[in-house]
Amino acid sequence: MSTLDPDRLPHHVAIIPDGNGRWAEKRGLSRMEGHRRGTETVQEVVRAAHELGIRELTLYAWSQENWGRPTVEVNAIMRLLHRYLRKHADELVENGIRLETLGRIQELPGSVRRELERVQRRTEGFNEMRLNMALSYSGRTEIVDAVRRIARAIESGQLEPEAIDEKTIGANLYAPESTEPDLLIRTGAEHRVSNYLLWQLAYTELYFSEALWPDFSKADLVAALREFQGRERRFGRTAKQLRAEP
Ligand code: IPE
Ligand code: IPE
Ligand code: MG
Repeated sequence: MSTLDPDRLPHHVAIIPDGNGRWAEKRGLSRMEGHRRGTETVQEVVRAAHELGIRELTLYAWSQENWGRPTVEVNAIMRLLHRYLRKHADELVENGIRLETLGRIQELPGSVRRELERVQRRTEGFNEMRLNMALSYSGRTEIVDAVRRIARAIESGQLEPEAIDEKTIGANLYAPESTEPDLLIRTGAEHRVSNYLLWQLAYTELYFSEALWPDFSKADLVAALREFQGRERRFGRTAKQLRAEP
């Protein structure tokens, strides 16, 4: 921990918490047990990120594609999500953590939606850390939904097509106040983006952990942050140019 430079922490960390099912199957347990353990890791990582001084954390909790899983698994995860929100809302409030969501939230069961709204209301305006949960989320659908909103603004005469720029797209995403992730961590030894934050990841540093999500610990998070701090983000420029600048 002492090896982390507090001045060079990523502002925003996005995570793809993958590997719950394999973690359980390896132990002869049901996949649901893996998801249950996974929600414990979520809370440990939220706590650790907050303690380390991360200002924004975006977790991929449920993808659009995940709706295609067996019904028992879908239902079990929806129940776990509901339970997670009930169990940890107080801790979020105590730590000044603001909960936000991104995705087609209207597709979630009513009980989960109501719980999300409750926690969002309770944590509104907090700014210790922002916790974004990507739920019923797809990066492509997010862009489709943004395009629809922009098209409606043009249709109603509020916007000229020539006025569309990158800011217009960003302003019409699910969480327009959210920043672009500095670091993406994917656990579970898969090396892909799986339709996550396609617009926002343009210049994000990518980090892949072999740990299955239920095994991912604060030490693993610190290892990812340390690796991030050793990287040079050039944004298309040369190293020499960057060093010449303040
Ligand atoms: C990630 O773990 C959790 C969700 C997608 C909700 P998986 O369920 O994808 O676990 P693996 O990849 O099958 O091990
Ligand atoms: C990505 O994991 C989605 C979440 C972690 C919620 P998946 O396990 O669904 O992704 P693929 O199928 O391996 O790409
Ligand atoms: Mg998976």
